[in-house]
Amino acid sequence: MKYTRTLILAVLILLVTACSGQKSTTVGSDAELEKRIEKLLSRMTLSEKIGQMNQVSAGGEISNYAEALRNGQIGSILNEVDPVKINEFQRICMEESRLGIPLLVGRDVIHGFHTIFPIPLGLAATFDPALVEEGARIASLEATAQGVRWTFSPMLDIARDPRWGRIAEGSGEDTYLDARMAEAMVRGYQGTVLDTTSMAACIKHFVGYGAAEGGRDYNSTFLTERQLRNIYLPPFEAAVKAGAMTLMTSFNDNDGVPSTGNTFILKDVLRDEWSFDGLVVTDWNSMGEMIAHGFGVDRKDVASKAVNAGVDMDMMTFGFISHLEELVASGAVKESVIDEAVRHILRVKFLLGLFEHPYVDVAQGQAVQYDQSHLEAARRTAEESAILLKNDGVLPLKADDIRTILVTGPMANAPHDQLGTWSFDGEKSHTITPLQALRERFPGKVIYVPGLRYSRENRDRFDDVVAAARRADVVLAFLGEEAILSGEAHCLADLNLIGSQSELLAALKAAGKPVVATVMAGRPLTIERDLPNCRAMVYAFHPGTMGGPALANILFGDVNPSGKTPVTFLRTVGQAPLYYAHNMTGRPYNGETLLAAIETEAGQTSLGNTSYYLDYGAYPLFPFGYGLSYTTFSYSGISLGQTVYRPDDILEVSFTLSNMGEREGTEVVQVYVRDLVGSITRPVKELKAFERVRLDAGESRSLTVRIPVSDLAFYGLDGVKKVETGDFQLWVAGDSASGEPVSFKVQ
Ligand code: BGC
Repeated sequence: MKYTRTLILAVLILLVTACSGQKSTTVGSDAELEKRIEKLLSRMTLSEKIGQMNQVSAGGEISNYAEALRNGQIGSILNEVDPVKINEFQRICMEESRLGIPLLVGRDVIHGFHTIFPIPLGLAATFDPALVEEGARIASLEATAQGVRWTFSPMLDIARDPRWGRIAEGSGEDTYLDARMAEAMVRGYQGTVLDTTSMAACIKHFVGYGAAEGGRDYNSTFLTERQLRNIYLPPFEAAVKAGAMTLMTSFNDNDGVPSTGNTFILKDVLRDEWSFDGLVVTDWNSMGEMIAHGFGVDRKDVASKAVNAGVDMDMMTFGFISHLEELVASGAVKESVIDEAVRHILRVKFLLGLFEHPYVDVAQGQAVQYDQSHLEAARRTAEESAILLKNDGVLPLKADDIRTILVTGPMANAPHDQLGTWSFDGEKSHTITPLQALRERFPGKVIYVPGLRYSRENRDRFDDVVAAARRADVVLAFLGEEAILSGEAHCLADLNLIGSQSELLAALKAAGKPVVATVMAGRPLTIERDLPNCRAMVYAFHPGTMGGPALANILFGDVNPSGKTPVTFLRTVGQAPLYYAHNMTGRPYNGETLLAAIETEAGQTSLGNTSYYLDYGAYPLFPFGYGLSYTTFSYSGISLGQTVYRPDDILEVSFTLSNMGEREGTEVVQVYVRDLVGSITRPVKELKAFERVRLDAGESRSLTVRIPVSDLAFYGLDGVKKVETGDFQLWVAGDSASGEPVSFKVQ
């Protein structure tokens, strides 16, 4: 945890927080902090130490926990957000337990606390770390005001298979984008200085969880150490460097070793290589699940394996609280291992200032929720995360030309579902749906006929909606999947619009009026068959509390869309996994014969021998980084400062970006690099930089992006991270499939 705890900083913090009402949690210098930890640790009995390592989910009466809290048997609770109860829990710990150690109160504050922002996949679509940081800060302000000082976020699992329901909870398929989002969220949750509005971030799930076989949650992964190091670990390392205070292990076993018992990742990499001195918590019962995995015989066995592998806190297995004392007595676990775990836990509690400020002001806490500024930020974020996938020119809609708007589809007025997965504390009564926003904006112009009231309803109401479409000047169809269809354990094997939604869209088109589709979903659905049935499509993922006003602003042109796909959109589910940064095969696809052209009794090799599907070819529907705007951008004059670089140089790429249209717009400029020949096969492209650039209508701007050549380093055949010399190509473009390469060398 890289918090500078110097005297000067302490004074500054005091000044700042004195003005804002937030209380500094400064604990003095590193040495003072360590002294406090050691002093407290030396006073703790073994049983009290083990108590700190026990996390319990709250629920029911306070009296259920009072005794355990009093006896120092619980170090942390999760799932309690009532500030009155939290204060009482803290009071028991502070006043009635022997040592007065405060509780760490955790919660899944994943994309907002009360004010819900777009799901993390939607946040990633903004390519705007500063805005994402602001959202995380707001989540912290709201959650900490109610006593929650620890969030189980950000989820950094790279996901390359949209069948996996938890793809919704992360930043998508790309290592670089994920790392930037990770840093932003850590900064936002914890704040740049620690005070009472800081919520400890928990980077999860360590590691590889998103690579579950077949996209089925909790499944095994088979990632090699090189894949881990080059693809899955870097976002975690970036988050640790950004100061993440805690980390959660994952449910999966990788190559046979469940993460909660994996010494290599928890010790060798996390502690020894990255010097992480924060807290490691298991996932919910992931210690206990090592028994089901067949990695331990009973709870005692898995408790021993987990603690010896480097786990500090047990979430809901009760393996530590039940067995660590006897394991220490038998010598299976050294007390020094327990001491180290408790140091990690106490360090977080001291840094958060919980000893000095265990309580919250309940009335003040209420006042912070759903602040207008929070709602505004949520709206801006939903606007930036909306991706325009298709537009034949029908968008933006011109309000003056429209007398009647038909609003339809199961997501048009779904206040709960547009919040998306993991929005425990979001309240649908605060959601503004597209229907509400449009009605408010165009009184008397909106007719609402849902057609399908929920995605899986039958087609009984189609006649009504088609009749309504005939009366309307434009049809706005809000389709997708309800919140419950993505998220943990909510995986799908079919990614087409669920139920009869595609048929609804086709029926609306047949009514002859312009149809604009907006999709709200937790994953990239396979919407190829739906594109011909709408004149424009906006993909909004689950946009959160302010999704309605944000989408109204996009559709009617107050805001020009700028979101880009954070993950490849497949044509059909059978293509999964398909991602842009794949390695080059020995037989890359070159446009060979597809199924339709196959003759009967064709010879074995008549179709060619390259890597593709006979029925769907080799390409996705939309590549990573893709998204349209109401204007168009062009890139010209792309040139590099040098053609030959040394590994410690900074690569400079200059170019001109022009807005070719008649309205302002923002482009997400993306820079991709390919290392042509390596000691191991390298990805065909890797994102190495991105930047949002806003240009006025007709404006051209010269831009320079700097990339340290050291960012091109990877773990090669010798297992050492370094830049390998040789030839490279670089693209500057608006998505991962466009642009012409320029060449350079590293020597
Ligand atoms: C999830 C975690 C979550 C935890 C606590 C688990 O089921 O995998 O991501 O933080 O529950 O709610």
